[in-house]
Amino acid sequence: MRRPLIAGNWKMNTNVAEATNLAQVMLAELDEISGVEKVLCPPFVSLASIKGLIKGMSIELGAQNMYFEDKGAYTGEISPLMLIGLCDLVILGHSERRQYFAETDEIINKKVKKALEFGLKPILCVGESLEDNEAGRTGEIITQQIRAALTGVNSTSQLVIAYEPIWAIGTGRAATGKQANATIGLIRNTVASLWDIETAQAIRILYGGSVTGSNIAEFIAEPEIDGALVGGASLKADDFLRIVSQTAAIKST
Ligand code: PGA
Repeated sequence: MRRPLIAGNWKMNTNVAEATNLAQVMLAELDEISGVEKVLCPPFVSLASIKGLIKGMSIELGAQNMYFEDKGAYTGEISPLMLIGLCDLVILGHSERRQYFAETDEIINKKVKKALEFGLKPILCVGESLEDNEAGRTGEIITQQIRAALTGVNSTSQLVIAYEPIWAIGTGRAATGKQANATIGLIRNTVASLWDIETAQAIRILYGGSVTGSNIAEFIAEPEIDGALVGGASLKADDFLRIVSQTAAIKST
């Protein structure tokens, strides 16, 4: 049985005061929900403050990005050495990083290796554009992204993958549960062919893209979908709590 995981990606929103406020509003209730791995991914500058707030709670922190070198003259970058001790997970290869910061599959592959080397669990994001989706190329694109990101990476159940169709991110136009389930099944098969069936069955694969408290049930009800990477709705305490509690309820049945 895979433990469901819900991660909230706050993206470039909230200053330190706002982030700690947002966390404070939901932490107590979030901590009470069992059976789901709960992860908050605030901006880098708020990780330390929120780490203080979640002490002793069943809540984890994730970073939204990371560089692939340990240290050195890389002005403005954050290394895995700076993240260890501060967070447990790191989002890598988000489509916004690919699109606005020119991250290639090769860069993402280096980042995945580095995160694992330092014991940070990668949340590796993959997803196809609307154009590729409409051209029926989803499977091809996703398979290629997974193969490239995992080149030379040893089999590990620590890896988390998020399938996030680009056309569904921040658009209010989520995929259907069935569509997401089919693509996630394909991702699992790709991992099985690269690594082994046991590991492919053990890793968590999430759906992301316009997930809310109103549609989470449709995704979570699907057998291949192990949780969600939530953007916009993770900035609303009520909505995020609804997503996590519904996940707990549905996956426990
Ligand atoms: P969204 O973002 O939930 O706002 O669509 C998801 C993501 O980018 O991880």
